Amino acid sequence: MLRDLPPTVFARRATLRRSLRLLGSFRFEQTDPGLFYGGIAADTLDLVADFHRDLTGRDLSGTTVLDVGGGPGYFADRFAEAGARYIPVEPDPTEMHAAGLRVPGAVRGSGMALPFRDGAVDICLSSNVAEHVPRPWHMAEEMLRVTKPGGLMVFSYTVWLGPFGGHETGPWHYLGGEYAARRYRRRTGREPKNRFGTSLFVVTAAAGLRWAERLGSRGRVLAAFPRYHPRWAWWLVRVPGLRELLVSNLVVVVAKR
Ligand SMILES: C[S@@+](CC[C@H](N)C(=O)[O-])C[C@H]1O[C@@H](n2cnc3c(N)ncnc32)[C@H](O)[C@@H]1O
Repeated sequence: MLRDLPPTVFARRATLRRSLRLLGSFRFEQTDPGLFYGGIAADTLDLVADFHRDLTGRDLSGTTVLDVGGGPGYFADRFAEAGARYIPVEPDPTEMHAAGLRVPGAVRGSGMALPFRDGAVDICLSSNVAEHVPRPWHMAEEMLRVTKPGGLMVFSYTVWLGPFGGHETGPWHYLGGEYAARRYRRRTGREPKNRFGTSLFVVTAAAGLRWAERLGSRGRVLAAFPRYHPRWAWWLVRVPGLRELLVSNLVVVVAKR
């Protein structure tokens, strides 16, 4: 599957400069979420818009974009500027209100049981969410279900054995998620926000690729690549074992049939 993927416009944006810019912003996630999310929002818009253009020849204006696990809606303004109707779905009211943003039409619900009918949206996106749910492939199925035939699904998640797999408990997750969580509590006196077994789970790159391979006639895989890497490092996805350590964040892009 990985060998037969069509060329994508987005590959042109995946330069080393972009990777360094994104990587540089990661350390501000907790201290300056506005800065961190501003950069990631613009980049996510480019990613989605490029694949949508590859698929349909059109820009995002007039499309409905469902952002599963959209948190407070950091991506809302960027998608609205591009003319899309942006709908974040988020189960956690604390997350929804975390940044004081007001996103009209925000929906409270879980990615594992999306409160939408089949084929309701043009584009279904989830960014850094699958590793926070106990049944990520069920969530992927739900996302595919609510995407229109001919629509786009973008599924991006943090790979457990990558450098950011343990989130704030890393790099101790390499010694086990439970150990890393306990160590974090011991050191800081509080539970990690991303608690192994409750809100943080092991998700492998291999599992995402397997899910994509099994789509069969339900979807066409447009791309599977490391989200933050420059184009010349995308081959990592094709190497079993190594991809678990170095891909860090896998994006699977599917055109629903
Ligand atoms: C790391 S944040 C990602 C936020 C945003 N999508 C991004 O890329 O920056 C993970 C989000 O997933 C949400 N989440 C957790 N469980 C979920 C579920 N079952 N369905 C949908 N979202 C969920 C969390 O509440 C949180 O807002």
